[in-house]
Amino acid sequence: MQKGKKIYEGKAKIIYATNDKDLVIQHFKDDATAFNNLKKAKIEGKGVLNNRISEHLLTSLKNCGIKNHLIKRLNMREQLIKKVEIIPIEFIVRNIATGSLSKRLGIQEGTKLDNPLLEYCLKNDDLSDPIISKEHIYAFNWSSESEIKEIDKLSLRVNDILSGMFKAINIKLVDFKLEYGKYWNKDKDRFELILADEISPDTCRLWDEKTEKKLDKDRFRKDLGNIIQGYQEVARRLGIMHEETNIKEVSFSRPTSIKFKKK
Ligand code: TMP
Repeated sequence: MQKGKKIYEGKAKIIYATNDKDLVIQHFKDDATAFNNLKKAKIEGKGVLNNRISEHLLTSLKNCGIKNHLIKRLNMREQLIKKVEIIPIEFIVRNIATGSLSKRLGIQEGTKLDNPLLEYCLKNDDLSDPIISKEHIYAFNWSSESEIKEIDKLSLRVNDILSGMFKAINIKLVDFKLEYGKYWNKDKDRFELILADEISPDTCRLWDEKTEKKLDKDRFRKDLGNIIQGYQEVARRLGIMHEETNIKEVSFSRPTSIKFKKK
């Protein structure tokens, strides 16, 4: 597989072409942003951890029948993935009220929701990813009714699987964001809806079951410190990392040494 030209650069990842037009390489950067790019930092080792954690979670989901874009992890920072046309919507699933839900509607932080709550946000940085309704999605053809019906079902299934996986390691899956894309399946001669992007502490809220300590990007958003330690804790509990590392936050100068367990 040959790496080609950069075709897209987002806030935390870069997409490169390959010599196969149906496949691309997804590169995980150390950049972190919050509040729609207002707050920025480099967190050394974040990309490596997200690459590995996302690989693990997407592989587990695939084993449970959730089709997704991951073909394989190539190295510490890169994955080979199916090229998809991303649906321009962030699909949010919430189990516990916090973040923008609490802010927007005045719901007490930490309120356990009786049922998972699905929300949709338009992927548009200039507008700060506004929350939208299904009616907006259909009115402006961002996705179709049948796609959203399928996505809602998939997202709830992903929530069940991931909530169980995290519960087993004493972590509460508070909420998370998913993205979906359409992949041209040449054997079937039609587009297929698949899960895409990443699932990592950048895109989930993960709280320690007992202490409610945050192990996710809220450590960055809220200036809580020890960001990498939070992500490492998630990797360690998932059983994919077994050693302390010497990663330093907001620094380029030191080499990263993260040891992952062999598969
Ligand atoms: P929110 O409470 O800020 O709306 O975030 C809900 C979930 O979505 C939370 O797990 C973080 C994740 N998220 C992203 O992955 N990307 C984003 O740009 C935002 C705003 C949230």
